[in-house]
Amino acid sequence: MINPPINDIDLNFHNETSTYATHAIHAFAAKFPPQLPRTFIEMLTNPGDVILDPMNGSGTTTLEAYLLNRFGIGCDIDPLAIKIAKAKVTRLNIDGSEIAEEVCEYAKNLLINEPFLLREALEQRFDEKTKEFINYWFLPETQMELMSLMLSIERFERDTPLREFLEVIFSSIIVTKSGGVTRARDLAHSRPHLDINKVPQNAIDMYQKRLLKFATVVSELPDHEPRPIILSCDTKNLELPSDSVDLVVTSPPYANAIDYMRAHKFSLVWFGIPITQLSNLRKIYIGSESTSKSNLVILPPFTESILEKLGNIDSRKEAILRKYYSEMREAIAEMFRVLKPGHYAILVVGTSTMRGVDVKTPYCLADIAEKDVGFHVVDIKSRELDRNRRMLPVRNGVTNNKSVIEQRMHTEEVIILRKPALEY
Ligand SMILES: C[S@@+](CC[C@H](N)C(=O)[O-])C[C@H]1O[C@@H](n2cnc3c(N)ncnc32)[C@H](O)[C@@H]1O
Repeated sequence: MINPPINDIDLNFHNETSTYATHAIHAFAAKFPPQLPRTFIEMLTNPGDVILDPMNGSGTTTLEAYLLNRFGIGCDIDPLAIKIAKAKVTRLNIDGSEIAEEVCEYAKNLLINEPFLLREALEQRFDEKTKEFINYWFLPETQMELMSLMLSIERFERDTPLREFLEVIFSSIIVTKSGGVTRARDLAHSRPHLDINKVPQNAIDMYQKRLLKFATVVSELPDHEPRPIILSCDTKNLELPSDSVDLVVTSPPYANAIDYMRAHKFSLVWFGIPITQLSNLRKIYIGSESTSKSNLVILPPFTESILEKLGNIDSRKEAILRKYYSEMREAIAEMFRVLKPGHYAILVVGTSTMRGVDVKTPYCLADIAEKDVGFHVVDIKSRELDRNRRMLPVRNGVTNNKSVIEQRMHTEEVIILRKPALEY
């Protein structure tokens, strides 16, 4: 793997489709295009090699690894991300029309003939706080439709691939760019806003359409070894042996930008997780707004200079950013530990603006990777982002004299790191 042709690669992927195979089964904020992991997997590995995404999100990397006959391993702490990533890589031998009829007819029947049963389920399943949340964000008729679907899905055996697939389709009608069957808009982009004029579609109809479509898609997935494994684990403490991975491809959360749980709880409450438990989980996400002081470290001089600049304006934001960089340092150190010597880690990340300060995320992460962890920074390549296609947070501090198109397009960086080879 000497001198791969990194200088010549085009990472923009304009006009290429990113919805093939199961990639479009569920929306996910800041999901990267499948061509991105595909390019590096093809360039830097061979069939059978181990490809790790330690912040796997909706599993773009693990699906691409599987399609390319590599052994994909994906880790994430987000319960919804894990569900989606598992469903994406699991072939099911099912007939779309049959399964759609079986699930949706039962749900429709409950809706017409068993409204008391549905109301009772809505009353008894959730604690008071969760009920308050559901009542605020879902119209009463949508709640009845969703509960009838849930009771129908629950007839299938728990923790089986079919049940997990049905659950992911359920979630996919709630967590969408436009807020799906909720009363929210901007669910994935920023804070959800209540839209009192929104008339959500019928949840069962929407479910049926998506189920029909994706039942066909999952039944067309290949069925071969090695099968990917999707783990629920913290990227700062990977349960993998040292020197065991051939390639890491990942996109860490942007600093202080996306609150995954803010959107995901709209779906996860329906699976019986109380809202307070979901809200508490938030603190453990890298890039969250939390300022807890655990594991904060002094970072290399370039990164410290950015922190100081921000700290002169807002010390709380500086604490948030220091936590982000400190945790990313632990995450990058874990990537280094599990990678085989001489192998590559690809990190895809854009910068953020905090209180008007560009926090230079890609350059700080490269700085930390090199100075603190021991990686060699091979290159940092820019790629253009089509903000219409990729669900990203609204950018702060955009100047008004730019055209709308310019404001929508911006770039992110692809950091190419290499763990030094062993010297004999
Ligand atoms: C930008 S997203 C990854 C998107 C992914 N590339 C895709 O295409 O779907 C970043 C992910 O990092 C995860 N994450 C945040 N903190 C984490 C942690 N401590 N351990 C593991 N994953 C974490 C989030 O849950 C989120 O799924």
